[in-house]
Amino acid sequence: MKDFEINPSILSADFGHLADEIKKVEKDSTFLHIDVMDGHYVPNITFGVPVVKAIRPQTNLIFDVHLMITNPMDFVEAFADAGADMITFHVETVEDPQPVIDKIHSLGKRAGMSIHPDTPIDKILPWVEKCDLILIMSVRPGFGGQHFMEESLDRIAAVKKIVEEKGLNTIISVDGGICTETIDRVVKAGANLLVAGSAVFSNDDHAKAIRELISCVSL
Ligand code: DX5
Ligand code: ZN
Repeated sequence: MKDFEINPSILSADFGHLADEIKKVEKDSTFLHIDVMDGHYVPNITFGVPVVKAIRPQTNLIFDVHLMITNPMDFVEAFADAGADMITFHVETVEDPQPVIDKIHSLGKRAGMSIHPDTPIDKILPWVEKCDLILIMSVRPGFGGQHFMEESLDRIAAVKKIVEEKGLNTIISVDGGICTETIDRVVKAGANLLVAGSAVFSNDDHAKAIRELISCVSL
């Protein structure tokens, strides 16, 4: 992985032209962030397994499926079969995360765990070494285009500290409100995979938007 990468979230893409939208970001990214919402864990509904399956043949981007659903274990296998490469579930949605992580790994996929901004960061710290990716939500999950919550910076730093202390290569991803104004602080706090929905797809030239985000980081 590079020092940091932009992970375009198709939540803000034009769903009527999804394949074309994905083509527009392909050259400037490695990952594609896919937000699955069930109307229970979050107050919104997006798309599910059939859409992941439909876009899989369109691209070689790494599919980072973000499950905002109350019963992730029931759907892990279906998303793996549909073409997910990384499957991320929320720590708040399971009593014991270990079996879900094990299931994802048994399917040959990378396991991610996400945390809601209202959940104390301590809840996820013991899992940093067991996951391939930690996804820190920097907005309340459910909708694109919200403002970055500044208190997320300390939460990113807390995860980064564990990664450094233990010499891990867990990806530290941040999701919500990433834009030209916020990205530099987020990367400096320790994140290396930046999910960006509206910042990428609200600009007609999606590829240029990705390059602009990257240019705002001074390392
Ligand atoms: C929100 C989703 C995000 C969303 C971010 O619940 O998890 O992935 O696409 O959107 P922006 O980048 O617009 O804040
Ligand atoms: Zn997301």
